[in-house]
Amino acid sequence: MSGQRVLVLNGPNLGRLGSREPEIYGSATYADLVQAVEAEATTLGFVADVRQTDDEAELVRWLHEAADEKLPVVLNPAAFTHYSYAIRDAISQRTAPLIEVHLSNPAAREEFRHTSVVAAVASGTVAGFGLGSYLLALRAIATGAAS
Ligand code: DQA
Repeated sequence: MSGQRVLVLNGPNLGRLGSREPEIYGSATYADLVQAVEAEATTLGFVADVRQTDDEAELVRWLHEAADEKLPVVLNPAAFTHYSYAIRDAISQRTAPLIEVHLSNPAAREEFRHTSVVAAVASGTVAGFGLGSYLLALRAIATGAAS
């Protein structure tokens, strides 16, 4: 498993972490997220490729890339979680574990966030632990707990 690539994909507005609604998402910046994920990935024997986009089409292309290359994925689809059937359909083509993550706990927030159109096609979901959600997801992949 050493050196195994894992894609860590982030959807819209996550590049603004740190300044974006810190009372919800915390004060850690996107750069902090990248650093924490890369460090944990290294500890687990992965090489993390961490990306962020505000563009649905780009995120779909990255999911196709993961499917074609059989790469595990940690995905925070951000607002796409709640309505993007294009993201869901791309995840459905996955050929390796894919874990949905959220910094906040969407179930404890506004009604529209209670629906995830992607959860049913992911290996599992980790939400509500800030950057820790990503680190737990990496661990689930590393231990083989995610199918
Ligand atoms: C989020 C939760 C989503 O509801 C929201 O649209 C986001 C971030 C999270 O990480 O908590 O952009 O995915």
